[in-house]
Amino acid sequence: MAMTRRQAVGLTASGLTAFALAQKGRAQATGDNPIPPGVVTLEDFEGVAQRKLSARTFEIVHGGGADEITIRWNREAFNKIALRPRVLVDVSNLNTRLTLFGQQLNFPIVLAPAGVHGLLHPEGELETARGATRAGAVLVIPSSPARPVEQIARTTGQPPWYQIYITKDRGATREEAQRAQNAGCRVLFVTVDGAAAGIRNGMMRPPFNPVRTPGELGTGSDPSLTWKDIAWLRSLVRIPVVVKGIMDPGDAERAVNEGIDGVSVSNHGGRQLDTAAATIDALPAVVEKVGGRIPVLVDGGIRRGTDVLKALARGASAVMIGRPFLYGLATAGADGVDRVVTILRQEFEMAMALTGRPSLADIDRSVLW
Ligand SMILES: Cc1cc2nc3c(=O)[nH]c(=O)nc-3n(C[C@H](O)[C@H](O)[C@H](O)COP(=O)(O)O)c2cc1C
Repeated sequence: MAMTRRQAVGLTASGLTAFALAQKGRAQATGDNPIPPGVVTLEDFEGVAQRKLSARTFEIVHGGGADEITIRWNREAFNKIALRPRVLVDVSNLNTRLTLFGQQLNFPIVLAPAGVHGLLHPEGELETARGATRAGAVLVIPSSPARPVEQIARTTGQPPWYQIYITKDRGATREEAQRAQNAGCRVLFVTVDGAAAGIRNGMMRPPFNPVRTPGELGTGSDPSLTWKDIAWLRSLVRIPVVVKGIMDPGDAERAVNEGIDGVSVSNHGGRQLDTAAATIDALPAVVEKVGGRIPVLVDGGIRRGTDVLKALARGASAVMIGRPFLYGLATAGADGVDRVVTILRQEFEMAMALTGRPSLADIDRSVLW
């Protein structure tokens, strides 16, 4: 049976790790986790992480809702979009910088909130924050992080953003939002696609047990939430509020009318409603409805620099990645996170160059075939 590149890298990871260890005295001395030399794409990290993590932990990160059709669609939809190369444009000075929610970003790639850092590395979000800092990326700290938000915020080079669920305990939600703001988080994402916890078949089968961790698998989100609660949350903080988990243009319009500062098109990486549409397919109608009044972010299945380019061409201001940086964290801690972001950024720059787009402002629909 044919073996995918990811499987091959995963299977050889221990051998390659031994090779890298022999080469890198520093790593050997400190017990670091060097990245196997064969790892050159984000997908490669998945194979190495699979090899390294227990089956149960890998499934927690990798798995999705029910039959995992949306996970597949998130990827397939990107693959179906063809690009239009343009030549003889001066791309010797690429500029990927942008301003989002009043903050300068080096490039339009953000680390999505994911409530599992502590499962993948003993230092949890602190280690991710170190990797994000090295890569120059913004981290969205997940609700109820494994490490104190103040400590994480002190570790990040770029001021972090924070994600929250509105739980039944509104007092605790208020405290969490204000604590994040006081810690220096510059944007508050409120995740709204957690009215029910998505079915995770993989974790129901032996040897797994249905696992519930606060902030993710059972989201903790209050199922009675409405726009009134979003307005309430917004009244508690001075920082911009972004609604995460918007797929419908009508919901996006409502967010604008409610005075929300941004929307994030997301199907939770295919972990909630299975057979929900691919996010890159949901994006254009949301962008059209929002009409440039607030930024629109998108996540789900972004694995290549060309995916970043396609998302921006369809009107996203920035993208977020989830699983890839988690696999980087599991593989090699901060080094892994740094490498994942750097690979994606470099691939994105290459895609900009080969489509003749020297800056983000030059990326529009005409990039697409
Ligand atoms: C293991 C895992 C945990 C996650 N935890 C959260 C969370 O706590 N809050 C949240 O808003 N989204 C969470 N997400 C969703 C991500 O923020 C993001 O929407 C998704 O991972 C993007 O898709 P991708 O993994 O294909 O890049 C989680 C995703 C994964 C894979």
